[in-house]
Formats: sequence, structure tokens, C-alpha cells
Amino acid sequence: MSPNVESESTSGLYRVSRDEPIAALERRRLLEMAELLDATTRARIEALGLAPGWRCLEVGPGAGTISRWLGERVGPEGEVVSLDLDLRFHVETKPPVALVEADLMAAPLPRDHFQVAHARNVIEHLPDPLAALARLVDVLEPGGWLLIEDGDFVTIDEAPLPEAFRALHDAATAAGLRRSPHWKRRYGSRMRADLMQLSLEDVAVDETRRTLVGGTPGAESYLLGLEYAVPGLVAGGLIEAKVAEEALALARRSDFSLPGPVHVIGVGRKPLR
Ligand SMILES: C[S@@+](CC[C@H](N)C(=O)[O-])C[C@H]1O[C@@H](n2cnc3c(N)ncnc32)[C@H](O)[C@@H]1O
Repeated sequence: MSPNVESESTSGLYRVSRDEPIAALERRRLLEMAELLDATTRARIEALGLAPGWRCLEVGPGAGTISRWLGERVGPEGEVVSLDLDLRFHVETKPPVALVEADLMAAPLPRDHFQVAHARNVIEHLPDPLAALARLVDVLEPGGWLLIEDGDFVTIDEAPLPEAFRALHDAATAAGLRRSPHWKRRYGSRMRADLMQLSLEDVAVDETRRTLVGGTPGAESYLLGLEYAVPGLVAGGLIEAKVAEEALALARRSDFSLPGPVHVIGVGRKPLR
């Protein structure tokens, strides 16, 4: 595959602002998310048997740190396709990592090709998660591994929260759903049922719950998503600036904590025949 292939988006309703101060918050948020989740992701990919020469597909890499690491691990004989609708936030990479700015559902990907396809916090944003997973199975070589990570936000959506924080959380969640209208905030808990429909072998799903403590990368990866929404919410009269400020200041204190989303990781293997 040649790098930097452009493709028309057919399911890419996920959009990040072009306004640089707001986009800068998204860059920081993606890096905080990487800080929080990359170690687990790397361990899970290693456990599949990752080795020099492997062909890997990273979907929705965001900050791109997993793609960069995959490139180092698979070496010059390997291949890493790092495919995102929006590559503005991707770290610099070098071969064998190829950056492809495209929609997963429309990108010209080879069939029966990759030994691993990984997507973290991406499938939950797509209009038809099952079709997206089927697409990933299609591009895996027989015996190749699908590794999917998504959240279930029920923990935080239903938690008792201080009033100002609840107001900001609810308004920002509504704004997030306008930016990514197909976002299924409970998808993590539905993932296994979808994986079971795909005739995969060795399907296994597990989940982790984290407490997000104010001031840590875990909390920041969540709070920056709320902060990102504030200018639009204030401009739209959906929250008062002082309430938003109060909520963010409170949530960044080390004595504040939130029940983080349930993080669900699912794995399955394409049958050899
Ligand atoms: C919540 S971010 C997750 C980033 C990264 N995987 C992580 O966990 O840190 C979702 C990413 O998926 C990308 N994305 C959303 N829809 C997509 C699509 N249809 N095709 C390719 N990428 C998509 C977004 O541009 C964004 O980079």
C-alpha cells in the first residue's frame, strides 16, 4: 500500500475542530489516552505472538503511538498501516509505518493480508460496528488476530456527581454525540455479542474498571474531552462559563475521583479455513 492515500469518507462522521486552540486540546487528550492505555495495548498485542515481519493494521490510531511502536517491533520486513480519518494528531513515524488518511469502511485495503488488526476506542463511534468488525476480519489473513478495545460509559453516566460537574458532563456528552452522532456509549458491553457473530475462533473478552483521580493522565484523558466542548457550550448558552470553570477546577483536584468507563478488550482469530 502506498502511504497517504486519500479516500472519500462514507462513515466518517467523527470530526475534530479545525480551530487550533481546540484542536490542541484534542492532541493533548489523545496523548493522555495513550499514556493511560498504551502499556496494556502493547502487552495484549505482544501476547498474540507479534514478531518481526508481521503485517499490522492500526485503525483510528489517534496520537499514533501504537503504530510507531508496532513499526519498531515488526522492523523493516514488516508492515504497519496506520489508518485514520484525521491524521493531524499522529506522531511522526518512519517506514515500515504507512499513514493512510481514510475511512475504514471506504479505504482500499487488501483482503486476507494482515496478521493483526487493532482498533481502540474507534468501533464504538462507527454507525455499524458489526459491519466494521466484519471488514476487519476480511482484511485479516486466515489465522490472523482481531483485537478490539472499547468503553462502556455507564459507570460515569450514572454516577452521583457534584452538581457543576454533572452539568458540564451532561452538556459535553450531548455535544460529543453531536460531533460523533453514532457514538454508542455502552458499546463495550455489546462487543462480545458482535464478535460472536463473526465466526471467529478463540474469542475472549475481558474488562477493567479504573478510578480516575484528579490530576492523573486517566482523569485528564476524560476531562480534556469535556474542556474541548466548553467554548461551544458557552457560546451556545448551554452552560455558564463560571460553572464549567468550577467543574474543571474541582475535577483536577487530587481529592476528586470519577468512576472511569469500563474498558473492554476483545480478541478473536480468523479461522484458517
Ligand atoms: C477516540 S479516538 C481513539 C484514538 C486512539 N485509538 C486511542 O485509543 O487513543 C477515535 C479515533 O478514530 C478515528 N476514526 C473515527 N471514525 C473513523 C473511521 N470511520 N475510519 C477511520 N478512523 C476513524 C478518529 O479520527 C480518531 O482518531
